[in-house]
Amino acid sequence: MQLSNIVPWGRSFAEYRDMFALSVEDMQGRVLGCGDGPASFNAEATAAGVRVVSVDPVYAFTAAEVESRVNEIFETVVSQTRAAADRFVWNRFADADALGRARLDAMRCFLRDYETGKNAGRYVEASLPDLNFAAGAFDLALCSHLLFLYSEHLSLDEHIAAVRALLRVAREVRIFPLLDLSGAPSPYIIPICETLSAEGYIVEQQVVPYEFMRGGNTMLRLCRRGVD
Ligand SMILES: C[S@@+](CC[C@H](N)C(=O)[O-])C[C@H]1O[C@@H](n2cnc3c(N)ncnc32)[C@H](O)[C@@H]1O
Repeated sequence: MQLSNIVPWGRSFAEYRDMFALSVEDMQGRVLGCGDGPASFNAEATAAGVRVVSVDPVYAFTAAEVESRVNEIFETVVSQTRAAADRFVWNRFADADALGRARLDAMRCFLRDYETGKNAGRYVEASLPDLNFAAGAFDLALCSHLLFLYSEHLSLDEHIAAVRALLRVAREVRIFPLLDLSGAPSPYIIPICETLSAEGYIVEQQVVPYEFMRGGNTMLRLCRRGVD
């Protein structure tokens, strides 16, 4: 994987809590964050006593390499967001500059924790659908701003393989948002719900207290029957 192909952009623990409607009980078990990139979720959740492992292909790179890529793409992402401001809900962040500051804070928090977390096995280089963990190793797997969002880049089959891989290693999987990059509902939601329901999983869409992409306030929850 080339770092020049990646747009590292990270959210905070507070955002993860709202995107995934995380309760205190949800964070009692082992949590997998899939595609966490430079989010501060792992650093902040670990500091709060949560047992969390993050996987992402970007963890092949050093902190200095990730930081320099963040700096490279930062202005472009903020100005693209400013140009498309009407596609976002501005209640959590006042404007694109405030959003940029919040993202930089989260990514700096990640970078401060990165080497320690890597040595502790909390940041693991891996790419869906190849997750090198034992079946049922996690109680909950979270996937923020990867599946569904990149519907144009990842096929339906790749989505299904990724969701199955997450369901193998975790007893419950939550995915957010269900929109693609254009802000439209992903065309894969219905086929994925149908496929995984037919395989015996409980699949439901749940409204959450987080909406930044306009209309993106729903997560997908999947778990094995008899678990919930
Ligand atoms: C938009 S970022 C989201 C980061 C974080 N989840 C958040 O919400 O702040 C997407 C992340 O997915 C990662 N990614 C891309 N392909 C992946 C794959 N096949 N498996 C796991 N992560 C992947 C990228 O490296 C990037 O860090």
